[in-house]
Amino acid sequence: MRLGVLTSGGDCAGLNAIIRAVMLRAVYGYGMELYGIHEATHGLLRRPVTATRLTSDTTRGILHLGGTILGTTNRGNPFAYPVEGGGTVDRSAEIIQGYHELGLDALIGIGGDGSLAILRKLALAGGWNLVGVPKTIDNDVNLTEHAVGHSTAVEIATEAVDRLHVTAASHNRVMVLEVMGRDAGYIALSAGIAGGADVVLIPEIPYRIESVCAKIEERRRIGRNFSLIVVAESVKSPEGMVHTVTDAHGQSRYGGIGRVIAEEVAKRTGAESRVTVLGHVQRGGSPTPLDRVVASAFGVAAVDLVARGEFDRMVAWQDRKVVAVPLAEATAGTRAVDLNDTLLHTARGLGISFGEPV
Ligand code: F6P
Repeated sequence: MRLGVLTSGGDCAGLNAIIRAVMLRAVYGYGMELYGIHEATHGLLRRPVTATRLTSDTTRGILHLGGTILGTTNRGNPFAYPVEGGGTVDRSAEIIQGYHELGLDALIGIGGDGSLAILRKLALAGGWNLVGVPKTIDNDVNLTEHAVGHSTAVEIATEAVDRLHVTAASHNRVMVLEVMGRDAGYIALSAGIAGGADVVLIPEIPYRIESVCAKIEERRRIGRNFSLIVVAESVKSPEGMVHTVTDAHGQSRYGGIGRVIAEEVAKRTGAESRVTVLGHVQRGGSPTPLDRVVASAFGVAAVDLVARGEFDRMVAWQDRKVVAVPLAEATAGTRAVDLNDTLLHTARGLGISFGEPV
């Protein structure tokens, strides 16, 4: 059997750990021939297709490395592929053909909800046998408690809160940390709890700046002249605006809400404030043990699904077990922080403010 594997969407820590686990299980467990496709579906678009035979030699020493040895992209939707000079074309047929040219019997696609939805569409149109593995620092893939990469991002964000804590206390400042999370507040929520933040702002809970300032004043009254605010990038400003930046290619992404909050707080409370935007630091570096463990479990389970001929499934983590869920359901939408989430309850119990009206 000839199996392919690719990484798609934004990178994160733990992708190489999945690739390694897939290699060990596929090549040594089942005697499969394994090919790592370069740069997501871009490798299937090139002629000849660009892929590397994955063996213990070509995957040596990657378990602890961030990034992905295969490369990835979160641009170039095959169904609306950008062309020079503007506009898009549908290049899905070429990509579908690339899978068949490589002689694949099955493909393991490692991606977030968006990438997995695109891969599924290709699989349905082209007769691919697809199994998905969830990864994303945002942890917003449906039906799985863990997506690979999230634990590492939370660790990095927590370290940032810790570092900001001491400098905030030394200068009596309000420190605002803007963390990633496209439409989900999991990183902000976990790092806020782990780092002892005073205010956590997430897209799932609309906030009022007056309430944020009230929390800062409340701390002052008990002699705490500094405060830590963790804000998810996708939070709207008090006027209901989403803050984005547009790059030279016309692509827009989140960024800027941290500055808005820091300025408003300074204006309204008179406190000195500073903002730190953590950005892509959250995606790099060595994966945490939890990300390595989940990545390894997912890699092994994904190959087992392939060996059993169970396709159109995604491996998922539920109640400390790896399970297989329908890819259709997993990609039907994204998972946001549930308002009954135990971490929300925990944060409230610790006195963390979400900036809700009081
Ligand atoms: O989805 C992962 C993520 O890191 C988001 O948290 C963030 O909004 C986005 O990707 C950034 O994308 P890019 O790598 O294109 O800047």
